[in-house]
Amino acid sequence: MNPASLQQLLCLNLLLCCTTNQARLTVSPSSSQFFKGDFVSLSCEEDDSSAGWTLRRNTSKQQRTQCRADWGTSAGSSCNISYIYPWDSGVYWCESREGPISNMVNLTVTGGSVILQSPVLPVMEGDDVTLLCKTKTTPSNLPAAFYKDGSLIRKQPTGHMTIQHVSRSDEGLYKCDISGHGESPSSWITVTGNYMHVCGKDPTQPG
Ligand SMILES: *[C@@H]1O[C@H](CO)[C@@H](O)[C@H](O)[C@H]1NC(C)=O
Ligand SMILES: *[C@@H]1O[C@H](CO)[C@@H](O)[C@H](O)[C@H]1NC(C)=O
Ligand SMILES: *[C@@H]1O[C@H](CO)[C@@H](O)[C@H](O)[C@H]1NC(C)=O
Repeated sequence: MNPASLQQLLCLNLLLCCTTNQARLTVSPSSSQFFKGDFVSLSCEEDDSSAGWTLRRNTSKQQRTQCRADWGTSAGSSCNISYIYPWDSGVYWCESREGPISNMVNLTVTGGSVILQSPVLPVMEGDDVTLLCKTKTTPSNLPAAFYKDGSLIRKQPTGHMTIQHVSRSDEGLYKCDISGHGESPSSWITVTGNYMHVCGKDPTQPG
Protein backbone atom coordinates (compact mmCIF):
# COMPACT_ATOMS: atom_id res chain seq x y z
CA MET A 1 0.00 0.00 0.00
CA ASN A 2 1.42 3.41 -0.89
CA PRO A 3 1.90 6.04 1.81
CA ALA A 4 -0.91 8.29 0.54
CA SER A 5 -3.58 5.61 0.71
CA LEU A 6 -2.23 4.42 4.04
CA GLN A 7 -2.64 7.94 5.35
CA GLN A 8 -6.19 8.09 3.96
CA LEU A 9 -7.05 4.85 5.72
CA LEU A 10 -5.62 6.09 9.00
CA CYS A 11 -7.53 9.34 8.71
CA LEU A 12 -10.76 7.53 7.91
CA ASN A 13 -10.37 5.31 10.97
CA LEU A 14 -9.56 8.29 13.11
CA LEU A 15 -12.66 10.14 11.95
CA LEU A 16 -14.91 7.10 12.39
CA CYS A 17 -13.59 6.18 15.78
CA CYS A 18 -13.48 9.64 17.23
CA THR A 19 -16.35 11.63 15.89
CA THR A 20 -19.34 9.28 16.17
CA ASN A 21 -21.63 9.63 19.15
CA GLN A 22 -19.60 12.50 20.52
CA ALA A 23 -20.61 15.84 21.90
CA ARG A 24 -18.53 18.96 21.87
CA LEU A 25 -18.96 21.52 24.61
CA THR A 26 -18.72 25.10 23.40
CA VAL A 27 -18.76 28.31 25.42
CA SER A 28 -20.08 31.67 24.28
CA PRO A 29 -18.58 34.25 24.52
CA SER A 30 -15.54 32.09 23.83
CA SER A 31 -13.33 32.71 26.85
CA SER A 32 -12.00 30.81 29.81
CA GLN A 33 -12.38 33.77 32.16
CA PHE A 34 -15.36 35.97 33.01
CA PHE A 35 -16.23 38.90 35.22
CA LYS A 36 -18.77 38.39 37.97
CA GLY A 37 -22.12 39.36 36.46
CA ASP A 38 -21.34 38.27 32.87
CA PHE A 39 -23.78 36.25 30.75
CA VAL A 40 -22.41 32.87 29.62
CA SER A 41 -24.03 30.34 27.30
CA LEU A 42 -22.79 26.74 27.19
CA SER A 43 -23.83 24.26 24.56
CA CYS A 44 -23.43 20.51 23.95
CA GLU A 45 -23.11 20.26 20.18
CA GLU A 46 -24.07 16.72 19.49
CA ASP A 47 -23.88 14.29 16.61
CA ASP A 48 -26.56 12.06 18.09
CA SER A 49 -29.25 14.02 19.89
CA SER A 50 -30.99 10.82 21.01
CA ALA A 51 -28.12 10.18 23.39
CA GLY A 52 -29.58 12.83 25.71
CA TRP A 53 -26.57 14.93 26.57
CA THR A 54 -26.58 16.71 29.90
CA LEU A 55 -24.32 19.54 30.92
CA ARG A 56 -22.62 18.99 34.26
CA ARG A 57 -19.97 20.68 36.31
CA ASN A 58 -17.66 20.31 39.28
CA THR A 59 -16.99 23.37 41.39
CA SER A 60 -15.12 23.68 44.63
CA LYS A 61 -18.41 23.18 46.49
CA GLN A 62 -20.39 20.63 44.43
CA GLN A 63 -19.68 17.70 42.11
CA ARG A 64 -21.47 16.56 38.96
CA THR A 65 -24.37 18.96 39.31
CA GLN A 66 -26.69 19.42 36.32
CA CYS A 67 -27.44 22.66 34.59
CA ARG A 68 -31.16 22.93 35.02
CA ALA A 69 -31.27 21.49 38.52
CA ASP A 70 -28.97 23.90 40.23
CA TRP A 71 -27.32 26.67 38.37
CA GLY A 72 -28.54 27.56 34.89
CA THR A 73 -31.46 27.84 32.53
CA SER A 74 -31.50 25.00 30.05
CA ALA A 75 -33.34 24.31 26.82
CA GLY A 76 -32.39 21.30 24.74
CA SER A 77 -28.65 20.92 24.97
CA SER A 78 -27.80 24.50 25.87
CA CYS A 79 -27.46 26.09 29.25
CA ASN A 80 -27.39 29.78 30.07
CA ILE A 81 -26.00 31.40 33.16
CA SER A 82 -27.43 34.90 33.13
CA TYR A 83 -25.33 36.27 36.01
CA ILE A 84 -22.19 34.28 36.68
CA TYR A 85 -20.56 34.30 40.13
CA PRO A 86 -17.01 33.47 41.28
CA TRP A 87 -18.34 30.24 42.82
CA ASP A 88 -19.42 29.12 39.31
CA SER A 89 -15.69 28.62 38.56
CA GLY A 90 -14.94 24.98 37.78
CA VAL A 91 -14.82 22.21 35.20
CA TYR A 92 -17.77 21.82 32.81
CA TRP A 93 -18.57 18.91 30.48
CA CYS A 94 -21.42 17.16 28.65
CA GLU A 95 -22.37 13.63 29.56
CA SER A 96 -24.74 11.20 27.87
CA ARG A 97 -27.00 8.64 29.52
CA GLU A 98 -24.79 5.89 28.07
CA GLY A 99 -21.71 7.28 29.71
CA PRO A 100 -19.48 8.98 27.13
CA ILE A 101 -18.38 12.47 27.96
CA SER A 102 -17.37 15.45 25.84
CA ASN A 103 -14.30 17.61 26.10
CA MET A 104 -14.01 19.45 29.41
CA VAL A 105 -13.55 23.16 29.89
CA ASN A 106 -12.32 25.16 32.85
CA LEU A 107 -14.14 28.41 33.52
CA THR A 108 -12.82 30.98 35.98
CA VAL A 109 -14.97 33.83 37.25
CA THR A 110 -13.43 36.75 39.08
CA GLY A 111 -14.81 39.41 41.36
CA GLY A 112 -11.73 41.45 40.42
CA SER A 113 -11.41 43.95 37.61
CA VAL A 114 -9.07 42.24 35.07
CA ILE A 115 -9.54 39.08 32.98
CA LEU A 116 -7.44 37.26 30.40
CA GLN A 117 -9.52 36.19 27.41
CA SER A 118 -7.75 33.01 26.36
CA PRO A 119 -9.00 30.07 24.27
CA VAL A 120 -11.37 27.89 26.22
CA LEU A 121 -10.78 24.91 23.88
CA PRO A 122 -7.40 23.36 23.11
CA VAL A 123 -5.60 25.14 20.27
CA MET A 124 -4.15 23.34 17.26
CA GLU A 125 -0.40 23.20 16.82
CA GLY A 126 0.52 25.72 14.10
CA ASP A 127 -2.44 28.05 14.66
CA ASP A 128 -2.13 31.65 15.79
CA VAL A 129 -3.64 32.45 19.17
CA THR A 130 -4.62 35.90 20.38
CA LEU A 131 -4.91 36.68 24.07
CA LEU A 132 -6.75 39.76 25.27
CA CYS A 133 -6.26 41.36 28.65
CA LYS A 134 -9.25 43.48 29.60
CA THR A 135 -10.69 45.47 32.46
CA LYS A 136 -14.27 45.48 33.59
CA THR A 137 -14.63 49.23 33.61
CA THR A 138 -12.54 50.62 30.74
CA PRO A 139 -13.94 49.95 27.28
CA SER A 140 -10.70 50.73 25.41
CA ASN A 141 -7.75 48.36 25.49
CA LEU A 142 -5.02 49.40 27.90
CA PRO A 143 -1.34 48.40 27.93
CA ALA A 144 -0.92 44.99 29.54
CA ALA A 145 1.82 42.62 30.67
CA PHE A 146 1.47 38.89 29.91
CA TYR A 147 2.93 36.08 32.00
CA LYS A 148 3.45 32.39 31.32
CA ASP A 149 4.15 30.01 34.19
CA GLY A 150 4.90 32.97 36.43
CA SER A 151 7.42 34.76 34.16
CA LEU A 152 6.84 37.95 32.21
CA ILE A 153 6.80 37.14 28.50
CA ARG A 154 5.63 40.35 26.81
CA LYS A 155 4.32 43.85 27.40
CA GLN A 156 1.81 44.98 24.80
CA PRO A 157 0.55 48.54 24.29
CA THR A 158 -3.00 47.55 23.34
CA GLY A 159 -3.70 44.62 25.65
CA HIS A 160 -3.54 42.04 22.81
CA MET A 161 -0.87 39.40 22.47
CA THR A 162 -0.68 37.04 19.50
CA ILE A 163 1.31 33.85 19.69
CA GLN A 164 2.09 32.82 16.12
CA HIS A 165 2.26 29.17 15.07
CA VAL A 166 1.72 27.74 18.54
CA SER A 167 3.68 24.65 19.46
CA ARG A 168 3.65 22.31 22.43
CA SER A 169 6.16 24.55 24.20
CA ASP A 170 3.54 27.34 24.36
CA GLU A 171 1.37 25.18 26.59
CA GLY A 172 1.16 26.53 30.12
CA LEU A 173 -0.52 28.71 32.70
CA TYR A 174 -1.12 32.29 31.51
CA LYS A 175 -2.16 35.48 33.23
CA CYS A 176 -1.95 39.20 32.57
CA ASP A 177 -1.83 42.44 34.45
CA ILE A 178 -2.91 45.99 33.74
CA SER A 179 -1.15 48.70 35.67
CA GLY A 180 -3.48 50.46 38.09
CA HIS A 181 -6.26 47.87 37.61
CA GLY A 182 -4.75 44.59 38.79
CA GLU A 183 -3.99 41.06 37.75
CA SER A 184 -6.19 38.49 36.04
CA PRO A 185 -6.69 34.92 37.28
CA SER A 186 -4.54 32.25 35.58
CA SER A 187 -5.77 29.89 32.86
CA TRP A 188 -4.24 26.91 31.08
CA ILE A 189 -3.66 27.01 27.36
CA THR A 190 -3.59 23.50 25.95
CA VAL A 191 -2.06 22.70 22.55
CA THR A 192 -3.10 19.60 20.60
CA GLY A 193 -1.61 17.86 17.58
CA ASN A 194 -2.91 18.80 14.18
CA TYR A 195 -3.89 15.43 12.67
CA MET A 196 -7.06 17.06 11.35
CA HIS A 197 -4.91 19.28 9.13
CA VAL A 198 -3.05 16.20 7.88
CA CYS A 199 -6.40 14.64 7.05
CA GLY A 200 -7.53 17.67 5.08
CA LYS A 201 -10.36 18.38 7.45
CA ASP A 202 -11.00 21.87 8.72
CA PRO A 203 -11.08 21.53 12.52
CA THR A 204 -13.17 24.67 12.88
CA GLN A 205 -16.04 23.05 10.97
CA PRO A 206 -18.21 20.63 12.97
CA GLY A 207 -18.86 17.09 11.78
C1 LIG B 1 -15.94 15.66 39.30
O1 LIG B 1 -15.99 15.23 40.64
C2 LIG B 1 -16.15 13.84 40.78
C3 LIG B 1 -16.39 13.54 42.26
O2 LIG B 1 -15.42 14.15 43.05
C4 LIG B 1 -14.91 13.13 40.23
O3 LIG B 1 -15.04 11.76 40.35
C5 LIG B 1 -14.76 13.51 38.75
O4 LIG B 1 -13.57 12.95 38.24
C6 LIG B 1 -14.74 15.00 38.59
N1 LIG B 1 -14.81 15.29 37.17
C7 LIG B 1 -14.02 16.19 36.59
C8 LIG B 1 -14.23 16.38 35.14
O5 LIG B 1 -13.22 16.86 37.19
C1 LIG C 1 -29.50 31.09 25.83
O1 LIG C 1 -29.00 32.27 25.25
C2 LIG C 1 -28.99 32.24 23.84
C3 LIG C 1 -28.24 33.48 23.36
O2 LIG C 1 -28.68 34.64 24.02
C4 LIG C 1 -30.43 32.15 23.36
O3 LIG C 1 -30.44 32.11 21.94
C5 LIG C 1 -31.05 30.89 23.92
O4 LIG C 1 -32.39 30.81 23.56
C6 LIG C 1 -30.94 30.87 25.43
N1 LIG C 1 -31.38 29.56 25.94
C7 LIG C 1 -32.02 29.43 27.10
C8 LIG C 1 -32.29 28.03 27.52
O5 LIG C 1 -32.38 30.37 27.80
C1 LIG D 1 -8.35 22.65 34.44
O1 LIG D 1 -7.48 23.28 35.36
C2 LIG D 1 -6.65 22.39 36.08
C3 LIG D 1 -5.79 23.18 37.04
O2 LIG D 1 -6.36 24.35 37.43
C4 LIG D 1 -5.76 21.61 35.13
O3 LIG D 1 -4.98 20.67 35.84
C5 LIG D 1 -6.63 20.89 34.10
O4 LIG D 1 -5.79 20.28 33.16
C6 LIG D 1 -7.56 21.86 33.41
N1 LIG D 1 -8.44 21.11 32.52
C7 LIG D 1 -8.72 21.54 31.28
C8 LIG D 1 -9.68 20.68 30.53
O5 LIG D 1 -8.24 22.55 30.80
